Amino acid sequence: MSLRLGDIAPDFTAQTTAGEINFHEWLGNSWGVLFSHPADFTPVCTTELGSVAKYRAEFAKRNVKTIAISVDTVESHHKWIPDINETQNTVVDYPIIADPDKKVANLYDMIHPNALDNLTVRSVFIIGADKKIKLTMTYPASTGRNFEEILRVIDSLQLTAQYSVATPANWKDGEDVIVTTAIKTEDISAKFPKGHKVIKPYLRTTPQPNK
Ligand code: BEZ
Repeated sequence: MSLRLGDIAPDFTAQTTAGEINFHEWLGNSWGVLFSHPADFTPVCTTELGSVAKYRAEFAKRNVKTIAISVDTVESHHKWIPDINETQNTVVDYPIIADPDKKVANLYDMIHPNALDNLTVRSVFIIGADKKIKLTMTYPASTGRNFEEILRVIDSLQLTAQYSVATPANWKDGEDVIVTTAIKTEDISAKFPKGHKVIKPYLRTTPQPNK
């Protein structure tokens, strides 16, 4: 059965470009983004892994560690990284898991044979500090991911874990948020003193509480 939101992210031990890691130990108290790519020395993957390296400070600010995976070997990853650094003008300094026996890929259901035979598709798992899966996304090989969207989702997840709010369509950090329906309208002022709007009895907004 595939992994669902709220499940504990399965633990594993694997070889990576940073040596052998135990996934849960490596995560420690951080959030994590585990993302697969189809293959080393391929164009879209080269841009994606470079993009994640460039957002290093943004992930760190949110207490998030990133880790990539493909079914290539650790030797292949090490040979490819200089190409990523050169062409994307960055330094890949997060681990890339080598999974030639597909142990982790199968554990996370990253191989979708009707779309791409024997290779991992572009899966993303956002994992909370509690090791639970907060978001999954699956992109085809032909479409590079938008890592700003992944950062945006992390902002929403971390905010909504702390306050009784949800975030509307296309929300970005700093914009108004939705007060959850668990809060009665008459209780909003006490909980959200920056003010609120009642657009419908079920649609109430407030300025982002932690800004
Ligand atoms: C790419 O990264 O460009 C790619 C990888 C595997 C299949 C198709 C495209």
